Amino acid sequence: MDTLRITKAKKLTGEVTVPGDKSISHRAVMCGALASGDVSITNLCSGDDTARTVTMFQQMGISIQAQGHHSFVIHGKGLHGLREPDDLLYAGNSGTTLRLMAGLLSAQPFFSVLSGDSSLRRRPMNRVVEPLRHMGAHINGRDHGNFAPLAIQGGPLRGIAYHLPVASAQVKSALLFAGLYADSQTTVIEPVLSRDHTERMLSCMGVPINIRGSEVTVQPCEHLEPCRLDIPGDISAAAFFIVAGLIVPDAELVLRAIGINPTRTGCIDILRAMGGQIDIFNERIQCGEPVADIAVRSSSLVATTIEGDLIPRAIDELPIIAVAAAMAAGTTVIRNARELRVKESDRIAAMTSELKKCGVVVEAYDDGMAITGGRGIRGTVCDSFGDHRVAMSLAIAGLCAEEEMIIRDCSCIQTSFPEFMGTLVRIKG
Ligand code: S3P
Repeated sequence: MDTLRITKAKKLTGEVTVPGDKSISHRAVMCGALASGDVSITNLCSGDDTARTVTMFQQMGISIQAQGHHSFVIHGKGLHGLREPDDLLYAGNSGTTLRLMAGLLSAQPFFSVLSGDSSLRRRPMNRVVEPLRHMGAHINGRDHGNFAPLAIQGGPLRGIAYHLPVASAQVKSALLFAGLYADSQTTVIEPVLSRDHTERMLSCMGVPINIRGSEVTVQPCEHLEPCRLDIPGDISAAAFFIVAGLIVPDAELVLRAIGINPTRTGCIDILRAMGGQIDIFNERIQCGEPVADIAVRSSSLVATTIEGDLIPRAIDELPIIAVAAAMAAGTTVIRNARELRVKESDRIAAMTSELKKCGVVVEAYDDGMAITGGRGIRGTVCDSFGDHRVAMSLAIAGLCAEEEMIIRDCSCIQTSFPEFMGTLVRIKG
């Protein structure tokens, strides 16, 4: 599916399920490998990114058995059960894999090398390398450790208190995993709370974690208790179909078992503020995480302003929200989102150039964009820049275009949502 061709949708109906949450899936594999016994995981994310994390642990001597559809049993060997990998650990396109593993590997009594694809090797790593060095980690890489490949000589670590300059769940989680092995407690203080899946999972597995607002403290610990992990549907994948259900006329969709952790639901708040008709029902707790079903129907959208504390709660959904903004009356302004420039692609540059090609009025800022919508979207030839979220956002935009939308370089969708096109075709009827 390198090039996608999308035609206008007259209606959308049906039920949608999405892959297990990618963020939670990485953490489930990591915690499973470190648990003192077997951990069964259901609904593990089907994308390539999660497979990279699985392969890394297999390279370090952990047995992980598939048990049917997206279910696995991980035979955890405890916190000290990993063995030195005899080859490079390859994270592919997955920043979460690389950054979280940097934390964990810094504490292991062995040498390892982490790398990834050309996009990942361009992404900044000093945000995680610097605080890990404060803990005593020995990490080398290009540009003083800012770029992968990262060579890590693991060893004893000390606990620290670290103020993150920018909210980041990847950095926070790397430090929490390293902190499990430190000589004293580790505290991470964020300017705004980022996704808290690591905290929730470690706490479910018996690790002493103390949370006060956006400050979290982990105590060094001896073991992680084995448990069952049933992973909620990924709200970041669901967001594509939530927006599709809002912007296509005559649409009514129900999305089942979607994670609604409040650190992730910024997109729902934003789309509701834009006039989106979104109902959340059947709320329950799964894997220590809130989960619900979500119903959406066609809505007349209006512009909004997206900034401040909302940004970390919607960071991965901003490309698809830009598409919603292109269909909304008025000018939507996104600010304080400079982080978008260092994701799988520069998402500010990518969404600005591609929406402009589609006839949308967009102005790029250093830390966001202004999108003036309500004048329709023109189908044309677009590029994904090898970024799965850009590719899927443009595909959803294509549902509202009169002309065919042709999107190049879409194999990247495999990293998080291999079933995306199949689902889209099915609900178009
Ligand atoms: C993630 C955290 C976020 C997010 C990324 C996944 C995670 O990144 O953008 O897709 O699983 O921890 P940052 O922590 O860099 O903000």
